[in-house]
Amino acid sequence: MYIVILAGGSGTRFWPLSRKSTPKQLMSVFGGKSMLQRTVERVLPLDPKRILVVTNALQAAETRNQLAYIKDVPVDVIEEPVGRNTAPAIGLAASIIARFDPDGIMAVLPADHYIVDEETFRATLVTARSVAVSGALVTLGITPTRPETGYGYIQAAVAGGSGAAAVERFVEKPNLERAMEFLASGCFYWNSGMFVWGACAILDEIGRHMPELAQALARLTFESHVWEIADLKPQIAEIYGAIKGESIDFGVMEKAKDVQVIPASFGWSDVGSWSALPEVMDADTAGHVVINASGAVSVGASECLAYGGGKVVALVGVSNLIVVDTPDALLVCAKDAAQDVKKVVEELERQG
Ligand code: GDD
Ligand code: MG
Repeated sequence: MYIVILAGGSGTRFWPLSRKSTPKQLMSVFGGKSMLQRTVERVLPLDPKRILVVTNALQAAETRNQLAYIKDVPVDVIEEPVGRNTAPAIGLAASIIARFDPDGIMAVLPADHYIVDEETFRATLVTARSVAVSGALVTLGITPTRPETGYGYIQAAVAGGSGAAAVERFVEKPNLERAMEFLASGCFYWNSGMFVWGACAILDEIGRHMPELAQALARLTFESHVWEIADLKPQIAEIYGAIKGESIDFGVMEKAKDVQVIPASFGWSDVGSWSALPEVMDADTAGHVVINASGAVSVGASECLAYGGGKVVALVGVSNLIVVDTPDALLVCAKDAAQDVKKVVEELERQG
């Protein structure tokens, strides 16, 4: 199996830790290894044929740098001159794999997700692979635990199954009322953004539903018969100049015929903003999650998230606050306003 890692996000909701050159996936959100490094290490026991990381040119050097220590599996970093959302990134990786290995099966994994039970995650990928060899497009659906409005949903044709089920439809980010109905119905799963399919199968579907993208990708020519992609850079630049941005969900998954969902429960979060961290990290006795601090003191405070910049963090008489200290910026934010941190980035860009 080939692993394709999508690592092109800009992660503006993790300002001030994430910046254009170091977005969420390159950050050590949990301390220690970055999310990208964790994503790669998580799949190594599956013994993948190759790992393809599709990222923005601005982040390519740091991406290579962070993965230089991976020696057992070849890693290719594919640079996009601009972000065009997930469909072109996936189409590009599929074109390369299909060229060198027409029967190749690929797992598409975002670089910035948090997974609790890695054994179960890998077992789910193996099951998904066995379904994908028949030509189906397989998507991993997470059994929902709350009416989350930050995720897309997948409706399965039958409720409560454990193996693969046919997909009825995709619903992108519903409002709370609909999300509550979905949770109650038992046949909806969170769209994890993780997919497994044959490289040729997804290219066929791109050809059917996104003909402009397919035509652009078909212009890629390969000099070599052995795996060699360094010479593709000018061609990718040309292709990206001409194509429109589109997500794979909207461009293909909502329209394709043979789509299967594998229900999964391995503990998952897409860590979309600072307020998602307490969901996946252990809190101290006062309910605080304190990261990267040399010590923590809480006096009459509760349920805060603090990123300490290596300092001692003291929280006094406050609750549900996010505090992030970095050398050149300080964030103080109410937990329920964490989604608005991206507006800080927009405002700073406006101020130049
Ligand atoms: N290489 C590359 N190029 N990667 C990209 C690009 C791009 O232009 N745009 C997005 N990505 C990567 C992001 O880094 C992320 O890992 C993943 O693709 C999904 O993109 P997001 O922008 O984070 O999408 P989302 O969170 O709003 O929604 C999608 O993911 C949810 C689960 O995390 C949808 O698929 C939802 O339905 C889903 O629930
Ligand atoms: Mg996301």
